[in-house]
Amino acid sequence: MKRAVCPGSFDPVTFGHLDIIERASAQFEEVVVAVLVNRTKSSMFTVTERMEMIVKTTSHLPNIRVDSWSGLLVDYCKTNEIQSIVKGLRAVTDFDYELQMAQVNLQGSGVETMFMATAPTHSFLSSSLVKELAYYGGEVSTMVPEIVDRALKSRVEESGK
Ligand code: PNS
Repeated sequence: MKRAVCPGSFDPVTFGHLDIIERASAQFEEVVVAVLVNRTKSSMFTVTERMEMIVKTTSHLPNIRVDSWSGLLVDYCKTNEIQSIVKGLRAVTDFDYELQMAQVNLQGSGVETMFMATAPTHSFLSSSLVKELAYYGGEVSTMVPEIVDRALKSRVEESGK
């Protein structure tokens, strides 16, 4: 089976992520969306909450599975017989870091990374930007699905902002 993984922090999932997931689902028999730990970032949502948001917003795609993993991405690929990693590239600013990770992952395990150009309408979008806007009461309804928008609002409210 041609299986790929779309890995990320997804804290929370945005329309940019969903665009890549949807387009990857058209290219592979199965796509696993894996919520991984990025040690350089602190999170707003738990892994379970992030997974639930992805499950709900990808339910229209029949070949998507949502999972989580707290180790190396290449070990996840090995364990789950996944041959390809799919990642979105927004701009040249993403490139250095993504190239480095793709090369490390290739060298360590032979797992290929395939980059998809983010749709221009989403090229400025990131979870960090969405969280920052939401924290200060900014409008994010064009950047994330409704359930994510609601979850952001209630998390900000809980924080006492
Ligand atoms: O959405 P993000 O935060 O840009 O995703 C980055 C992520 C989680 C995919 C990356 O940090 C990752 O693969 N983490 C798992 C550990 C790992 O395999 N690191 C890369 C090799 S050093």
